[in-house]
Amino acid sequence: MTSEQTDEAAAESPDGATDESPADGGSAPTEGLVVVSNREPYSHSYDGDEITVDRPVGGLTAGLDPVMQRASGTWVAWGDGDADREVVDERDRVGVPPEDPAYTLRRVWLDDDEVKEYYYGYSNQVLWPLCHSDRGRITYEPRFWERYEAVNRKFADAAVAEADPGSLVWFQDYHFGLAPAMVRRELGDDVTLAHFWHIPWPTWDDFRVCPQSRELMEGLLANDLVGFHVDRFCAQFLEGVDACFDEAAIDWTAGEVHRGGSTTLVKSFPMGVDTDRIERLAGSDGAEAFWDRFREERGIADDAVVAVGVDRLDYTKGIPERIRAIEYFLESYPEFRGEFVYVQKASESRSEIPAYQEIQAEVSETAERVNDRFGTDDWEPVVGITEMLPAESLYGLYRHADLALVSSVRDGMNLVAEEYVAAQLDNGGALVLSDFAGVDETLGDYAYTINPYATREFAETVRAAITDSAEERRERMRHMRQLVTAYDLDAWMDDIFETAAALGDATAESD
Ligand code: G6P
Repeated sequence: MTSEQTDEAAAESPDGATDESPADGGSAPTEGLVVVSNREPYSHSYDGDEITVDRPVGGLTAGLDPVMQRASGTWVAWGDGDADREVVDERDRVGVPPEDPAYTLRRVWLDDDEVKEYYYGYSNQVLWPLCHSDRGRITYEPRFWERYEAVNRKFADAAVAEADPGSLVWFQDYHFGLAPAMVRRELGDDVTLAHFWHIPWPTWDDFRVCPQSRELMEGLLANDLVGFHVDRFCAQFLEGVDACFDEAAIDWTAGEVHRGGSTTLVKSFPMGVDTDRIERLAGSDGAEAFWDRFREERGIADDAVVAVGVDRLDYTKGIPERIRAIEYFLESYPEFRGEFVYVQKASESRSEIPAYQEIQAEVSETAERVNDRFGTDDWEPVVGITEMLPAESLYGLYRHADLALVSSVRDGMNLVAEEYVAAQLDNGGALVLSDFAGVDETLGDYAYTINPYATREFAETVRAAITDSAEERRERMRHMRQLVTAYDLDAWMDDIFETAAALGDATAESD
């Protein structure tokens, strides 16, 4: 995958490794699984006259890939690689992994207008800011909606063509608010439909500013199962349904919506990461070699305190807020000047959208200001990494960083926080974590919690995370590692598959 295609977790790790089996997906359907996502797991591109393949390298795609291989399922996704069309058959399908095909990738083609209005438009200038409760960044144009509907139709048609009676069709994220209802209309109760909404679901008061709030909820209620990361998003979704549909009966305890003879279960599944793989890579020779080389190249002293932040350059991640807190920290605690280094790994994202261009500029300017203000000939307080990092380098960076700063102003979950924890093989680091990231629900008791806007308290918390006793930090990290390991990516997928299977069985029995 390219950097534009990846999630924040393990975002820039094109290690291209094929010898790994990151997840076992024990409860995955053994047949008939159809996954629908905007991003594809494999993309083909030209390197001169040669065609090369980008593989899943992290996050959900890497976790789902082995599950799909075992289930011989079909993955429906946007074919955006420049050589993607070259390798498909007449039904737009290609077997993957390319060297030993085990499942089908069904590509959906989007033309420039569709990319502009469905992807950059409705998905990322309406739904993304809306769901992150950022009304000021919503740019709404009626044709965005028309195009979103048309592209949802394309994906729904592809899913219908690929599904069999008894299939589980699993939709990913906010790109497909309408497709479930379209698939249901075609296939009725012969299929089980599940949807995982990876980003927050806002309060009804925020969501109702969306001109199509009702249509979107209607689309989602066609699913048998709608999953969010945390209970709060489930509750907010149910409150929206309650406000919007007089005829809906809600069982608040069970999390069920009964409407028009059908039932949707709304449930939280806090997503996990592939802890086995992260631990293995974090402890690899490559991770050590990267760290030694990186420190040397960037002039980071052996005994420096190193903090790390890894993000897509997105306005929800609170990156300028974080750098301002670092500025305040260096201003207030001069003893850390020359001793503390903040490493920012940032990857460009959705750059066609003005709000993203603005955040890129703001992050660079803020970092430069801090470096100009405090930097010396042999010390740079904010060190940037923009290049792609192989997975073992990324996990080497996590492993050796004394603290991670996750300061999202709003976040569905934030898997970087979990990856950092998983990479702490010696339980040594500290996690400074925003109260506004979904993952705070699982790790908040043991992380150093901050409000990204409260600059002074943020800086004080960074100081506490550095100066607290090693035992205190280790104790916190030990608890967090237990939590992250117990509910890893495998456990998360199993939980969803088991829940969906039970719903499918119940429907079959009532037929
Ligand atoms: C978030 C979304 C994903 C998305 C990713 C990268 O994590 O929840 O669905 O794939 O960002 O964004 P992009 O726009 O590059 O797909």
